[in-house]
Amino acid sequence: MISRVDFAPLDGITKSVFRRTWQEFFGGADRFFIPFFSPTDQHILTDRHRKEVDPAANAGLNAVPQVMTRRASDFLWAAEILADMGYGEVNLNLGCPSGTVAAKGKGSGFLRDPEGLDRFFEEVFSRPLPAAVSVKTRLGYDSPEEFPRLLEIYNRYPIACLTVHPRTRPEKYRGPLHLDAVSLAMAEGRIPLCYNGDLRTPGEVRALEARFPALEAVMIGRGAVADPALPRKLRGGPPASREELEAFTAALYRGYQAQYGQKHPASQRMKEVWFYLIHLFEGGERLGGRLRRSRGPEAYERIEAEIFQTLPLREESAGELV
Ligand SMILES: Cc1cc2nc3c(=O)[nH]c(=O)nc-3n(C[C@H](O)[C@H](O)[C@H](O)COP(=O)(O)O)c2cc1C
Repeated sequence: MISRVDFAPLDGITKSVFRRTWQEFFGGADRFFIPFFSPTDQHILTDRHRKEVDPAANAGLNAVPQVMTRRASDFLWAAEILADMGYGEVNLNLGCPSGTVAAKGKGSGFLRDPEGLDRFFEEVFSRPLPAAVSVKTRLGYDSPEEFPRLLEIYNRYPIACLTVHPRTRPEKYRGPLHLDAVSLAMAEGRIPLCYNGDLRTPGEVRALEARFPALEAVMIGRGAVADPALPRKLRGGPPASREELEAFTAALYRGYQAQYGQKHPASQRMKEVWFYLIHLFEGGERLGGRLRRSRGPEAYERIEAEIFQTLPLREESAGELV
Protein backbone atom coordinates (compact mmCIF):
# COMPACT_ATOMS: atom_id res chain seq x y z
CA MET A 1 0.00 0.00 0.00
CA ILE A 2 1.22 3.47 -0.82
CA SER A 3 1.79 5.37 2.39
CA ARG A 4 4.19 8.09 1.26
CA VAL A 5 3.94 10.75 -1.44
CA ASP A 6 7.07 12.67 -2.38
CA PHE A 7 6.87 15.88 -4.41
CA ALA A 8 9.34 15.50 -7.29
CA PRO A 9 12.03 18.08 -7.97
CA LEU A 10 11.10 20.14 -11.06
CA ASP A 11 13.96 22.50 -11.77
CA GLY A 12 12.65 25.97 -12.64
CA ILE A 13 9.20 25.19 -11.22
CA THR A 14 9.32 23.75 -7.69
CA LYS A 15 11.85 26.21 -6.31
CA SER A 16 11.48 27.51 -2.77
CA VAL A 17 8.75 30.10 -3.50
CA PHE A 18 6.62 27.42 -5.16
CA ARG A 19 7.29 24.86 -2.43
CA ARG A 20 6.28 27.22 0.37
CA THR A 21 3.21 28.58 -1.40
CA TRP A 22 1.99 25.15 -2.50
CA GLN A 23 2.44 23.82 1.04
CA GLU A 24 0.47 26.74 2.48
CA PHE A 25 -2.50 26.30 0.11
CA PHE A 26 -2.65 22.55 -0.57
CA GLY A 27 -0.09 20.34 1.17
CA GLY A 28 -0.39 16.59 1.39
CA ALA A 29 3.13 15.64 0.29
CA ASP A 30 5.25 13.86 2.87
CA ARG A 31 8.52 15.09 1.44
CA PHE A 32 9.65 17.72 -1.01
CA PHE A 33 12.68 17.13 -3.21
CA ILE A 34 14.68 20.28 -3.92
CA PRO A 35 15.83 20.57 -7.57
CA PHE A 36 19.45 19.51 -8.01
CA PHE A 37 22.61 21.47 -7.66
CA SER A 38 25.98 20.48 -9.08
CA PRO A 39 28.93 20.99 -6.71
CA THR A 40 31.70 23.15 -8.15
CA ASP A 41 35.34 21.98 -8.25
CA GLN A 42 36.15 24.63 -5.64
CA HIS A 43 33.52 23.26 -3.26
CA ILE A 44 31.75 26.57 -2.88
CA LEU A 45 28.00 26.72 -2.52
CA THR A 46 26.85 29.53 -4.80
CA ASP A 47 24.38 32.10 -3.45
CA ARG A 48 21.68 30.80 -5.80
CA HIS A 49 22.03 27.24 -4.49
CA ARG A 50 22.41 28.34 -0.87
CA LYS A 51 19.07 30.16 -1.11
CA GLU A 52 17.38 26.98 -2.33
CA VAL A 53 18.70 24.70 0.39
CA ASP A 54 18.62 27.30 3.18
CA PRO A 55 16.70 25.59 6.02
CA ALA A 56 14.77 28.83 6.65
CA ALA A 57 13.47 28.75 3.06
CA ASN A 58 12.32 25.17 3.60
CA ALA A 59 10.92 25.42 7.11
CA GLY A 60 8.09 22.96 7.68
CA LEU A 61 8.53 21.26 4.31
CA ASN A 62 10.44 18.06 5.12
CA ALA A 63 12.73 18.83 2.20
CA VAL A 64 15.37 16.55 0.69
CA PRO A 65 18.18 18.25 -1.21
CA GLN A 66 19.46 16.71 -4.43
CA VAL A 67 23.00 16.67 -5.76
CA MET A 68 24.18 15.92 -9.27
CA THR A 69 27.78 14.84 -9.70
CA ARG A 70 29.93 11.93 -10.82
CA ARG A 71 32.67 12.51 -8.27
CA ALA A 72 32.41 10.87 -4.88
CA SER A 73 34.54 13.59 -3.27
CA ASP A 74 32.12 16.26 -4.49
CA PHE A 75 29.12 14.28 -3.29
CA LEU A 76 30.70 13.75 0.12
CA TRP A 77 31.47 17.46 0.41
CA ALA A 78 27.87 18.33 -0.47
CA ALA A 79 26.50 15.72 1.96
CA GLU A 80 28.65 17.20 4.71
CA ILE A 81 27.46 20.79 4.26
CA LEU A 82 23.85 19.71 3.82
CA ALA A 83 24.01 17.57 6.96
CA ASP A 84 25.46 20.59 8.79
CA MET A 85 22.36 22.53 7.74
CA GLY A 86 20.25 19.81 9.35
CA TYR A 87 19.28 17.62 6.39
CA GLY A 88 18.99 13.92 7.22
CA GLU A 89 19.00 12.69 3.62
CA VAL A 90 20.76 13.70 0.41
CA ASN A 91 19.55 12.47 -2.97
CA LEU A 92 21.78 11.65 -5.95
CA ASN A 93 20.43 12.60 -9.37
CA LEU A 94 20.95 9.77 -11.88
CA GLY A 95 18.11 10.76 -14.14
CA CYS A 96 18.60 14.18 -15.71
CA PRO A 97 18.29 13.59 -19.49
CA SER A 98 19.71 16.93 -20.63
CA GLY A 99 22.32 16.49 -23.38
CA THR A 100 24.85 18.87 -21.83
CA VAL A 101 24.53 17.20 -18.42
CA ALA A 102 24.76 13.65 -19.83
CA ALA A 103 27.76 14.61 -21.98
CA LYS A 104 29.62 15.40 -18.74
CA GLY A 105 28.76 11.92 -17.46
CA LYS A 106 26.37 13.33 -14.85
CA GLY A 107 22.66 12.68 -14.24
CA SER A 108 21.51 9.96 -16.65
CA GLY A 109 24.97 10.22 -18.27
CA PHE A 110 26.43 8.43 -15.25
CA LEU A 111 24.30 5.35 -16.08
CA ARG A 112 26.46 4.79 -19.16
CA ASP A 113 29.37 3.91 -16.89
CA PRO A 114 28.17 1.18 -14.45
CA GLU A 115 31.74 0.40 -13.28
CA GLY A 116 32.30 4.07 -12.50
CA LEU A 117 28.99 4.19 -10.66
CA ASP A 118 29.97 1.15 -8.62
CA ARG A 119 33.29 2.80 -7.68
CA PHE A 120 31.42 6.01 -6.83
CA PHE A 121 29.15 4.19 -4.36
CA GLU A 122 32.04 2.19 -2.97
CA GLU A 123 33.85 5.40 -2.11
CA VAL A 124 30.73 7.17 -0.83
CA PHE A 125 29.77 4.29 1.46
CA SER A 126 33.31 3.46 2.59
CA ARG A 127 33.02 5.70 5.64
CA PRO A 128 30.32 6.77 8.07
CA LEU A 129 28.08 9.25 6.29
CA PRO A 130 26.65 12.41 7.85
CA ALA A 131 23.27 11.82 6.14
CA ALA A 132 21.33 9.01 4.50
CA VAL A 133 21.89 8.71 0.75
CA SER A 134 19.02 8.09 -1.64
CA VAL A 135 19.04 7.76 -5.42
CA LYS A 136 16.72 8.89 -8.21
CA THR A 137 17.36 6.91 -11.38
CA ARG A 138 16.19 6.08 -14.86
CA LEU A 139 16.35 2.57 -16.28
CA GLY A 140 19.40 3.16 -18.38
CA TYR A 141 21.27 5.44 -20.70
CA ASP A 142 20.05 3.88 -23.95
CA SER A 143 17.92 0.88 -23.15
CA PRO A 144 15.78 -0.58 -20.34
CA GLU A 145 17.93 -3.68 -20.67
CA GLU A 146 20.62 -1.85 -18.75
CA PHE A 147 18.45 -1.77 -15.64
CA PRO A 148 19.09 -5.27 -14.17
CA ARG A 149 22.82 -4.49 -14.07
CA LEU A 150 22.22 -1.09 -12.45
CA LEU A 151 19.83 -2.63 -9.92
CA GLU A 152 22.42 -5.24 -9.04
CA ILE A 153 24.89 -2.41 -8.29
CA TYR A 154 22.39 -0.36 -6.25
CA ASN A 155 21.47 -3.49 -4.28
CA ARG A 156 24.99 -3.81 -2.94
CA TYR A 157 24.88 -0.48 -1.09
CA PRO A 158 22.88 0.84 1.88
CA ILE A 159 20.90 3.29 -0.25
CA ALA A 160 18.01 4.67 1.81
CA CYS A 161 15.50 4.83 -1.04
CA LEU A 162 15.59 4.16 -4.78
CA THR A 163 13.22 6.32 -6.79
CA VAL A 164 12.74 4.87 -10.26
CA HIS A 165 11.47 6.78 -13.27
CA PRO A 166 10.89 3.85 -15.62
CA ARG A 167 12.21 5.43 -18.80
CA THR A 168 15.60 5.72 -20.49
CA ARG A 169 17.48 8.94 -21.22
CA PRO A 170 16.24 9.38 -24.85
CA GLU A 171 12.67 8.83 -23.65
CA LYS A 172 12.95 11.93 -21.47
CA TYR A 173 9.53 12.37 -19.77
CA ARG A 174 7.04 11.03 -22.30
CA GLY A 175 5.93 7.87 -24.06
CA PRO A 176 5.27 4.42 -22.64
CA LEU A 177 6.59 3.53 -19.20
CA HIS A 178 8.54 0.29 -18.77
CA LEU A 179 6.56 -1.11 -15.86
CA ASP A 180 8.27 -4.51 -16.16
CA ALA A 181 11.37 -2.85 -14.77
CA VAL A 182 9.33 -1.73 -11.75
CA SER A 183 8.27 -5.36 -11.29
CA LEU A 184 11.92 -6.36 -11.36
CA ALA A 185 12.85 -3.70 -8.83
CA MET A 186 9.99 -4.85 -6.60
CA ALA A 187 11.05 -8.50 -6.87
CA GLU A 188 14.81 -8.17 -6.68
CA GLY A 189 15.43 -4.81 -5.10
CA ARG A 190 16.77 -4.74 -1.57
CA ILE A 191 16.23 -1.01 -1.26
CA PRO A 192 12.91 0.67 -0.37
CA LEU A 193 11.41 1.63 -3.72
CA CYS A 194 9.61 4.79 -4.77
CA TYR A 195 7.82 4.85 -8.13
CA ASN A 196 7.90 8.02 -10.22
CA GLY A 197 6.24 8.82 -13.54
CA ASP A 198 3.07 10.20 -15.14
CA LEU A 199 0.74 10.05 -12.11
CA ARG A 200 -2.03 12.63 -12.66
CA THR A 201 -5.11 11.41 -10.82
CA PRO A 202 -6.03 9.39 -7.71
CA GLY A 203 -7.33 6.71 -10.12
CA GLU A 204 -3.91 6.37 -11.71
CA VAL A 205 -2.28 6.05 -8.30
CA ARG A 206 -4.83 3.40 -7.27
CA ALA A 207 -4.20 1.48 -10.51
CA LEU A 208 -0.47 1.50 -9.79
CA GLU A 209 -1.17 0.30 -6.28
CA ALA A 210 -3.32 -2.53 -7.65
CA ARG A 211 -0.49 -3.60 -9.94
CA PHE A 212 2.19 -3.31 -7.24
CA PRO A 213 0.49 -4.00 -3.89
CA ALA A 214 3.84 -4.01 -2.04
CA LEU A 215 4.78 -0.53 -3.30
CA GLU A 216 4.99 1.92 -0.41
CA ALA A 217 5.93 5.25 -1.97
CA VAL A 218 5.33 7.34 -5.06
CA MET A 219 6.91 10.55 -6.24
CA ILE A 220 4.70 12.97 -8.16
CA GLY A 221 5.93 15.99 -10.10
CA ARG A 222 4.04 17.44 -13.04
CA GLY A 223 0.77 15.88 -11.88
CA ALA A 224 0.92 17.89 -8.66
CA VAL A 225 1.52 21.13 -10.57
CA ALA A 226 -1.27 20.27 -13.05
CA ASP A 227 -3.59 19.55 -10.12
CA PRO A 228 -2.14 21.08 -6.96
CA ALA A 229 -4.72 19.25 -4.83
CA LEU A 230 -3.66 15.80 -6.09
CA PRO A 231 -1.61 14.77 -3.00
CA ARG A 232 -4.42 16.07 -0.74
CA LYS A 233 -7.02 14.11 -2.71
CA LEU A 234 -4.91 10.97 -2.31
CA ARG A 235 -5.49 11.38 1.42
CA GLY A 236 -9.23 11.70 0.94
CA GLY A 237 -9.22 15.52 0.86
CA PRO A 238 -11.27 17.74 -1.45
CA PRO A 239 -10.38 18.79 -4.99
CA ALA A 240 -9.07 22.30 -5.61
CA SER A 241 -11.73 24.99 -5.77
CA ARG A 242 -11.60 27.95 -8.12
CA GLU A 243 -11.17 30.35 -5.16
CA GLU A 244 -8.29 28.29 -3.83
CA LEU A 245 -6.57 28.22 -7.20
CA GLU A 246 -7.03 31.95 -7.65
CA ALA A 247 -5.62 32.64 -4.20
CA PHE A 248 -2.77 30.17 -4.81
CA THR A 249 -1.71 31.63 -8.16
CA ALA A 250 -2.00 35.19 -6.80
CA ALA A 251 0.19 34.31 -3.80
CA LEU A 252 2.70 32.54 -6.05
CA TYR A 253 2.90 35.56 -8.35
CA ARG A 254 3.41 37.85 -5.35
CA GLY A 255 6.10 35.51 -4.02
CA TYR A 256 7.97 35.56 -7.33
CA GLN A 257 7.71 39.34 -7.56
CA ALA A 258 9.15 39.63 -4.07
CA GLN A 259 11.97 37.27 -5.05
CA TYR A 260 12.87 38.93 -8.35
CA GLY A 261 11.94 42.49 -7.45
CA GLN A 262 10.09 42.86 -10.76
CA LYS A 263 7.08 41.53 -12.61
CA HIS A 264 8.59 40.28 -15.84
CA PRO A 265 10.54 37.25 -14.54
CA ALA A 266 7.71 36.59 -12.07
CA SER A 267 5.24 36.31 -14.94
CA GLN A 268 7.63 33.99 -16.79
CA ARG A 269 7.66 31.63 -13.80
CA MET A 270 3.87 31.76 -13.61
CA LYS A 271 3.62 30.79 -17.28
CA GLU A 272 5.66 27.67 -16.52
CA VAL A 273 3.19 26.73 -13.78
CA TRP A 274 0.24 27.41 -16.09
CA PHE A 275 1.77 25.15 -18.75
CA TYR A 276 0.58 22.28 -16.50
CA LEU A 277 -2.23 23.93 -14.54
CA ILE A 278 -4.25 24.86 -17.64
CA HIS A 279 -5.31 21.22 -18.04
CA LEU A 280 -7.43 21.53 -14.92
CA PHE A 281 -9.75 23.84 -16.88
CA GLU A 282 -12.32 22.66 -19.37
CA GLY A 283 -11.35 23.72 -22.89
CA GLY A 284 -8.15 25.37 -21.66
CA GLU A 285 -6.16 24.66 -24.83
CA ARG A 286 -6.90 27.99 -26.54
CA LEU A 287 -6.15 30.25 -23.58
CA GLY A 288 -3.24 28.00 -22.59
CA GLY A 289 -1.75 28.50 -26.06
CA ARG A 290 -2.29 32.26 -25.85
CA LEU A 291 -0.64 32.35 -22.45
CA ARG A 292 2.38 30.41 -23.72
CA ARG A 293 2.85 32.77 -26.66
CA SER A 294 2.17 35.93 -24.64
CA ARG A 295 4.89 38.37 -23.62
CA GLY A 296 5.14 40.45 -20.51
CA PRO A 297 3.29 40.60 -17.20
CA GLU A 298 0.26 42.55 -18.46
CA ALA A 299 -0.63 39.86 -21.00
CA TYR A 300 -0.10 37.15 -18.39
CA GLU A 301 -2.35 38.92 -15.87
CA ARG A 302 -5.07 39.50 -18.50
CA ILE A 303 -5.13 35.91 -19.80
CA GLU A 304 -5.02 34.41 -16.31
CA ALA A 305 -8.03 36.54 -15.31
CA GLU A 306 -9.85 35.33 -18.44
CA ILE A 307 -9.10 31.69 -17.56
CA PHE A 308 -10.57 32.11 -14.08
CA GLN A 309 -13.58 34.06 -15.33
CA THR A 310 -14.56 31.94 -18.30
CA LEU A 311 -13.38 28.34 -18.02
CA PRO A 312 -15.13 25.63 -15.99
CA LEU A 313 -12.90 23.80 -13.53
CA ARG A 314 -12.41 20.05 -13.88
CA GLU A 315 -12.23 17.66 -10.95
CA GLU A 316 -9.13 16.05 -12.44
CA SER A 317 -6.38 17.13 -14.74
CA ALA A 318 -6.98 15.88 -18.24
CA GLY A 319 -3.85 16.90 -20.04
CA GLU A 320 -1.01 14.83 -21.34
CA LEU A 321 2.10 15.48 -19.31
CA VAL A 322 4.87 16.66 -21.60
C1 LIG B 1 10.81 20.96 -15.89
C2 LIG B 1 11.36 19.74 -15.20
C3 LIG B 1 12.42 19.88 -14.31
C4 LIG B 1 12.95 18.75 -13.65
N1 LIG B 1 13.98 18.90 -12.74
C5 LIG B 1 14.45 17.79 -12.08
C6 LIG B 1 15.49 17.89 -11.09
O1 LIG B 1 15.99 18.96 -10.75
N2 LIG B 1 15.90 16.73 -10.50
C7 LIG B 1 15.36 15.51 -10.81
O2 LIG B 1 15.75 14.48 -10.25
N3 LIG B 1 14.37 15.41 -11.72
C8 LIG B 1 13.91 16.50 -12.34
N4 LIG B 1 12.88 16.36 -13.22
C9 LIG B 1 12.19 15.07 -13.33
C10 LIG B 1 11.05 14.98 -12.33
O3 LIG B 1 11.52 15.01 -11.01
C11 LIG B 1 10.23 13.68 -12.54
O4 LIG B 1 11.10 12.59 -12.46
C12 LIG B 1 9.54 13.67 -13.90
O5 LIG B 1 8.86 14.88 -14.14
C13 LIG B 1 8.57 12.51 -14.00
O6 LIG B 1 7.64 12.53 -12.94
P1 LIG B 1 6.15 13.16 -13.14
O7 LIG B 1 5.56 12.43 -14.32
O8 LIG B 1 5.44 12.87 -11.86
O9 LIG B 1 6.34 14.60 -13.43
C14 LIG B 1 12.39 17.47 -13.91
C15 LIG B 1 11.32 17.35 -14.82
C16 LIG B 1 10.80 18.46 -15.46
C17 LIG B 1 9.64 18.28 -16.41
